[in-house]
Amino acid sequence: MKLLVLCVIIVANVSYNGKASLESFMPTANVLLADTTKNSDKSCQRPCKFNVKPRRCVYDFDIEPAIQENDIPAIMINGMTPGPPIHVCLNDVVIVKVKNKVPDQDLAMHWHGVEQKGTPYMDGVPMVTQCPVSYGSTYEYAFIASTPGTFFYHSNSVAHQSDGVYGSIIVDQPQPLEPHVSLYDYDRGEENTLMIAAKFPSLLTGIIEDLSQVLPTSLAINGNEDRSKLFVIPGYAYRLRLINAAAIECPLLLNVDRHDMMVIATDGKPVKPVSTRHVLLYPGERMDVVVRADQEAGGYWVRVHGRDKCSGLSASAMLLYSGFNYTAMLDEEPKTKNNLEPGAASIIYGQKLQYLRDSTNAAENVKSVYLGIDRNTVKFKDSDNDYRYLSDALPTKPFYPAELSTSNGVIQINGKNFLYPNTPMLLKPMDVKPDSICKVGEEEKHKQTQCVQVLKVEDKGEYELALVNEGFGSNDSYTFHLHGYSAEVIATWQNPNNLPISREDFHKLDKEGKIIRNERNAPLKDTFTVPNKGFTIIRIQPDRGGTWLLECRSCGLSSLPVAVIINVPLAIPKLVVDSLPKCGNYKPADVLLN
Ligand SMILES: *[C@@H]1O[C@H](CO)[C@@H](O)[C@H](O)[C@H]1NC(C)=O
Ligand SMILES: *[C@@H]1O[C@H](CO)[C@@H](O)[C@H](O)[C@H]1NC(C)=O
Repeated sequence: MKLLVLCVIIVANVSYNGKASLESFMPTANVLLADTTKNSDKSCQRPCKFNVKPRRCVYDFDIEPAIQENDIPAIMINGMTPGPPIHVCLNDVVIVKVKNKVPDQDLAMHWHGVEQKGTPYMDGVPMVTQCPVSYGSTYEYAFIASTPGTFFYHSNSVAHQSDGVYGSIIVDQPQPLEPHVSLYDYDRGEENTLMIAAKFPSLLTGIIEDLSQVLPTSLAINGNEDRSKLFVIPGYAYRLRLINAAAIECPLLLNVDRHDMMVIATDGKPVKPVSTRHVLLYPGERMDVVVRADQEAGGYWVRVHGRDKCSGLSASAMLLYSGFNYTAMLDEEPKTKNNLEPGAASIIYGQKLQYLRDSTNAAENVKSVYLGIDRNTVKFKDSDNDYRYLSDALPTKPFYPAELSTSNGVIQINGKNFLYPNTPMLLKPMDVKPDSICKVGEEEKHKQTQCVQVLKVEDKGEYELALVNEGFGSNDSYTFHLHGYSAEVIATWQNPNNLPISREDFHKLDKEGKIIRNERNAPLKDTFTVPNKGFTIIRIQPDRGGTWLLECRSCGLSSLPVAVIINVPLAIPKLVVDSLPKCGNYKPADVLLN
């Protein structure tokens, strides 16, 4: 009982004391990590109220390969893909016991968009924030649902995520706090969530050859082969939550036949509402939209069309007015209309949106960091293959196989690929081999193709990261995900003349004052696209300690890792480090005995 009280105090600290020091954000190990309550409530989904104690929400995830009903193998969570929805109230403590039952594989679970206030070691990046979870062992994730909105979880590995390891996270708050509550009548959580993923014909997990040519063969909405159904009552408005859960470069265009959508949030953050017929979501992006059932009663198609690596693929769900007999629709294929492709100007995507409130104070002393991204051809020798990350459970398997596609080149940031550190950098910063680290902006000092690319945040204040997709070696756009923070996406641009733009060109344009920034109401996002032969500029205030990855998720299958660690120094208390699993030495008895 004492510990429950302590837990509540800490939660209160996080949520109400904006000026609290970092130390006070740091939960003591026994609060978050140990199961201190006998009455842990497993059904945290409930209407969220003011002035009630947050709950402790416990989920058990058994991750295991299995054959789905359609005979296609998948990696499932408790026999499901997508996995169980996590649906909690603001400030609840979420505990997820992730058990790895995937033979030969290490894994880690990332909570995409969750800020991990005070728990940077729960962010789920192997060798950066934690030791990977080896086969047969369990990692107990624990974090506070500190911001409301639509999020999702997925295995850190692009292959695991593509094979099915993902699910939704919805964090609700008391209704009166929802900024757009007046725009809709119903917010039914996962019942009105469309989580869309790209499916491959066979498991990607375990393949260590070059996967760059492997393309998905279908799109799945909520994992269904049968169509998802959204039931509506005529005249009422519904909040839908859209999640692009693809792990590859698979932008998704979505529309509801004959209905407008009012976009109210992107990546869990509220925006000025915008009405549209088409929304575009990049991999990892979320969007909340309101659809009013204001058409003639009947059944309507919700259509999803893939682009880039998913081009040619489509999927559909049904929007069904109550009382409508939709039997006939079940056997129907939604007829594709000609000229379906809408004009680019009429499509709403996250970076086009404006944050709900305008900012009044201009940023001062913004420090700029330039990241040039391109596909480069690099000469590798076989001996360059990086097999350092061996799972201790099965020493013969590489953890991060270096699938080098030398003919196509590899996607790099400032001429480097990311190297996962030899030990979790957050927990044991002094044990990371110094010669494996390269500093952002000083990459040329480092000889190897791969290095632990680190942007060390040394000063307080605002940082501006200009991601320039140079486009000399590729025509691809890339989607990036920032861990731990929402960034203001203050500019995005693509060269209309289709000419490459180097990092230096960008610098020059910037010096000449030619780069226009939205400093007033830039959308807050954790996932953003960097258009080919163009750039995206983000701003963050790195005020919370941690080793936060800025990663190109969508580069995963076609390149070596493409990422930078934003290192905001933080000494993790020894008590916490000691309470976390050690790399390789936390195998449970059944693995040792078999
Ligand atoms: C619904 O429509 C199907 C044919 O499309 C018909 O067989 C069925 O009887 C209808 N159901 C009701 C309740 O009207
Ligand atoms: C990019 O597209 C242009 C034409 O638009 C083509 O000439 C060029 O070969 C493409 N580059 C790559 C790397 O595919």
